[in-house]
Amino acid sequence: MERTLFLIGFMGAGKSTVAKALSERLGYPVTEMDADISKKEGMTISEIFEKKGEMYFRELETRLLESFSASAPGIVSCGGGVPMREENVKAMHQSGVTILLEASPSAILERVKDSDERPLLQGRKNVEAIRALMEQREPKYRAAADLTVDTSQLSVSEVCDEILKGLEKL
Ligand code: S3P
Repeated sequence: MERTLFLIGFMGAGKSTVAKALSERLGYPVTEMDADISKKEGMTISEIFEKKGEMYFRELETRLLESFSASAPGIVSCGGGVPMREENVKAMHQSGVTILLEASPSAILERVKDSDERPLLQGRKNVEAIRALMEQREPKYRAAADLTVDTSQLSVSEVCDEILKGLEKL
């Protein structure tokens, strides 16, 4: 299975955790997009949003995604906004497979409530606001996905099982 696996989905859907677990199973390296961008810029994601603006961050995401097409297979844990841009979706489909992780708004809230590193959720850490943003994004997430796994009721290991099973059928 020599493909790059792009994990997409809402903030807190479990992309980073699942990326690590999948990497242990498959022996593929992981790229954590937010961590990579943050390291290259020498700023946290919140600082990039604050000092350079969201558009600047979105350009960095697109450039990083385009760099995967020529690189070796791996697992990429994407920022939650990545599938919102058509060119990002194209870049992912050119170099690999997109796997959408879904979770309920209350499961998301539980996972993000103590984090200050998500500027889009500052002041909106409640089920209603999360549901509203999720519904707005869902059509693009689903259109971008080659494979979808609902993580709400599954352990990390079960999510990996579902992904590996799904990949065999693609
Ligand atoms: C964002 C999700 C974040 C991060 C940034 C914007 C989004 O990544 O890229 O705060 O637009 O959904 P995670 O999904 O890894 O939290």
